[in-house]
Amino acid sequence: CGIVGYVGTRGSVEVLLGGLKRLEYRGYDSAGVAVVGDDGALATRKRAGKLGMLTDDLAAVPIADGQTGIGHTRWATHGGPTDGNAHPHLGDGGRLALIHNGIIENFFELKTELLERGHAFTSETDTEVAALLVGDAYRESGDLTTAMLATVQRLEGAFTLVAVHADQPHVVVGARRNSPLVVGLGDGENFLGSDVAAFVEYTHRAMEIGQDQVVTIRPDRVEVVDFGGAPVTPSTFEVDWDASAAEKGGWSSFMAKEISEEPEAVAKTILGRVHDGLVDLPELAALGDDVLTGLDRVLIIACGTAYYAGLVGKYAIEQWARVPVDVELAHEFRYREPVLSPRTLVVSISQSGETMDTLMAVKYAREQGARTLSICNTQGATIPRESDAVVYTHAGPEVAVASTKAFVAQITAIYLLGLQLGQVRGALEPERARGLVAELQAVPEKLAAVLNSGERIREMAKWMADTQSVLFLGRHVGYPVALEGALKLKELAYIHAEGFAAGELKHGPIALIEPGQVVFVIVPSPRDPSSLHAKVVSNIQEIRARGARVIAIAEAGDVAVLPHADEVIRIPLASPFFEPLLAVVPLHIFGMELAAAKGLDVDQPRNLAKSVTVE
Ligand code: G6P
Repeated sequence: CGIVGYVGTRGSVEVLLGGLKRLEYRGYDSAGVAVVGDDGALATRKRAGKLGMLTDDLAAVPIADGQTGIGHTRWATHGGPTDGNAHPHLGDGGRLALIHNGIIENFFELKTELLERGHAFTSETDTEVAALLVGDAYRESGDLTTAMLATVQRLEGAFTLVAVHADQPHVVVGARRNSPLVVGLGDGENFLGSDVAAFVEYTHRAMEIGQDQVVTIRPDRVEVVDFGGAPVTPSTFEVDWDASAAEKGGWSSFMAKEISEEPEAVAKTILGRVHDGLVDLPELAALGDDVLTGLDRVLIIACGTAYYAGLVGKYAIEQWARVPVDVELAHEFRYREPVLSPRTLVVSISQSGETMDTLMAVKYAREQGARTLSICNTQGATIPRESDAVVYTHAGPEVAVASTKAFVAQITAIYLLGLQLGQVRGALEPERARGLVAELQAVPEKLAAVLNSGERIREMAKWMADTQSVLFLGRHVGYPVALEGALKLKELAYIHAEGFAAGELKHGPIALIEPGQVVFVIVPSPRDPSSLHAKVVSNIQEIRARGARVIAIAEAGDVAVLPHADEVIRIPLASPFFEPLLAVVPLHIFGMELAAAKGLDVDQPRNLAKSVTVE
């Protein structure tokens, strides 16, 4: 869910709706605002559906504006997306409004208790429990911060709570446990947000709110205490991107814009990290001396697209650093008592840095004594804070819900890590390392060339708009690319799609092939010394013999593939490890264009949210 809070001198409705607009990618099944006027009146409005429903509603029938307010955009957990279940929820007889992100796990017991106390519920949410509890606590103390502190003691689970009370205009109080919350520091005004996008239009100065802390913002000051009430000195940071970076700027969708930024995402992630032709990641020093040389295993944990970036990383790190690498889905890793040691480096990959499954896995790994490194695209996010070290990807804000430019930036970051590990562990000769670094540096220009050939893919997507099922095949680093291509089609175009390791096909999935079945094949370079090219061409022949319609993604100049494919999409020459960065771009474009051809919203696919902050 997305959260925004405001105190200052502006009319808060506009600030809240603007913030929610930029946070909408965090959830978009309902939205609401609550505003406190100077006269001590509390007005709320909430609507099921995308933010536009609320905006239109407020334009048609405005609420009394005020200089203090909170806003929420929801991704439903407890209770379906209805007006009633939308946030804010009310307490203290309608004098208090509260919004929430996360899940309150003991909500059933608390609800029973509140019912016994005579409270009635108007929604099916766990949030209303928190609103009523803070409301009751306010009646006792007459102070919103005190009431929030009393309430958080009683809650289990993960949550960000933000509340206002009609009796306390010019005050917004937030609490945070395992769920994101940052403060935007203005002049005579202050902001709260699930991330900096909420307020970047107004200020670039931000303050991190730590785990188990309560923050009180007023127009002229910000106070932070821990859950025990003891004052905390929080750290501040500057947001390094502009509000315009999170705007569409003439593109048909955020995704179209973000795919066009893939070359830049790679270039910026490399920038400043190569010296004398070799990788230099000073961030790794935070892991402690000898960790890189002494580690005996790397374990990568992530979800969704980030997991596929991790799979690509496994091939590269093992090859370059000669250290065993495992890649695991964060939610599977956490609950099976994995074997870890201080010599295991656990690398999490997360665009948002907030994915709850990944966060919990990182925490668990730390508790078990492993060293933790976060690869993350979002400054000040929770996962980097909970890790020993962080290597940021510099893809810039990614707004479209399905990840694209972050994926290529993640692969770039994990390659930088693999190269540095290879260098410090003596597994990579400096000359070889320099050659690989130079190839990585050449990727952005090649990506730009791939983008230029997007038109052909657009046409293909148009004639395939009615396709029911698409398969993707790849080998080696092409295999995770196949998985990513399939995920994009599921997420964006709601088409059944599967990615397979091409060698696995004959062990089962080949039974799926019938005449007309569309199969994308990522073809390795014919120059590849491991002769995988010939193997993949054989795999193509096997499926073509059974009627498959083959679309090959192949290197420029690979003529050997021509007789075997119905369509060939060309990518520039690159050695095997750099091919996934290029081959994935046509698949990103294809997913987006197919969804667009079906008339779907490519930025906000149904049922999804960009940062899933529940387990
Ligand atoms: C969600 C998004 C995916 C994303 C995954 C991991 O499920 O819809 O696009 O890949 O989360 O997100 P993260 O922020 O951890 O990279």
